[in-house]
Amino acid sequence: MASEEINVPPMKDLNIDNITENTVIINSQSSDPRLTYVMERLVTHLHDFARETRLSTTEWMAALNFLVKVGQISTDVRHEYILLSDILGLSLLVDAIDHPKPPASTEGSVLGPFHTHEAETMKHGDLMSQDTEGEPCLVLCTIKDVNGNPIEGVKVDIWETDSTGHYDVQHADRDGPDGRCVMKSDKDGVFWFKAIVPVPYPIPHDGPVGQLLKLLKRHPWRPAHMHFMFEKPGWDHLITALYIRGDPYETSDAVFGVKQSLIVEFNPADAKTAQEYGVKEGSKVLRHDFVLVDEKETERLRDENALKALKALGRKVKLLNHLPVPDLD
Ligand code: BEZ
Ligand code: FE
Repeated sequence: MASEEINVPPMKDLNIDNITENTVIINSQSSDPRLTYVMERLVTHLHDFARETRLSTTEWMAALNFLVKVGQISTDVRHEYILLSDILGLSLLVDAIDHPKPPASTEGSVLGPFHTHEAETMKHGDLMSQDTEGEPCLVLCTIKDVNGNPIEGVKVDIWETDSTGHYDVQHADRDGPDGRCVMKSDKDGVFWFKAIVPVPYPIPHDGPVGQLLKLLKRHPWRPAHMHFMFEKPGWDHLITALYIRGDPYETSDAVFGVKQSLIVEFNPADAKTAQEYGVKEGSKVLRHDFVLVDEKETERLRDENALKALKALGRKVKLLNHLPVPDLD
């Protein structure tokens, strides 16, 4: 057994200077090198954080109580831990590490806590929002590879809020899914649907994450956006969103999701478009071409970035299942 292979020293008389080294040793008995490495780095950074901030017992208890509250307010449809990760910038960071994008491909954005698996599968041209108060819009999209070839049969998940800035799951009295749908791209990589023009909205801020934002004097608003998720075997899973140009929160998104390449414009439908797609002339149209990256290329880029980043940190690592572990050879 691996546990008999390491020499665990007597765990006593531990202090500020040797607690880290000893915690790392006792955590090193797993036969999973990735778990051992992640725990070693986690403990090291956590302990350094406590040493650097001279963390008080009162502060640490406040942090633990905060985490308890984050758990207590969470339900199937309220994911306060996702919110916490989002406002800390960690969601965006993990997505950027795990899904590197070559130039000309569509960049990722935050998933957020409001994606569900209950969206109806719809046909091209269907109306995915029943909100009659929202401003109607037509969304015309293609999905291509980085060489401009259409990709057929991609499963696309789309979701947006209603005109009051709430997702369907935020309405206690809802009858079923609304403002969300699933569709597939056709042989030309095309998918299209009718929706409502997105509006800005605040992320849920009546819980512990909202209290933290307030203490930090940060607002909870997200700029108007529509979410998209793309899945097809052999292609890197893409979670992204399109943001409307000129939104008051374009440069201060509470969860850091906006990227220049994801900012789009709605233009008025001309007579030809209106007739072809059965919408009113002058109503809003969004056209966008999404570009997916094949899984092998993403894997190659991820490996390359990992080795470069860890070399810059002076760490000797190798990749195991495309994830870094210490290179002890
Ligand atoms: C969203 O865009 O749905 C979202 C993202 C992060 C936190 C809350 C909501
Ligand atoms: Fe959203």
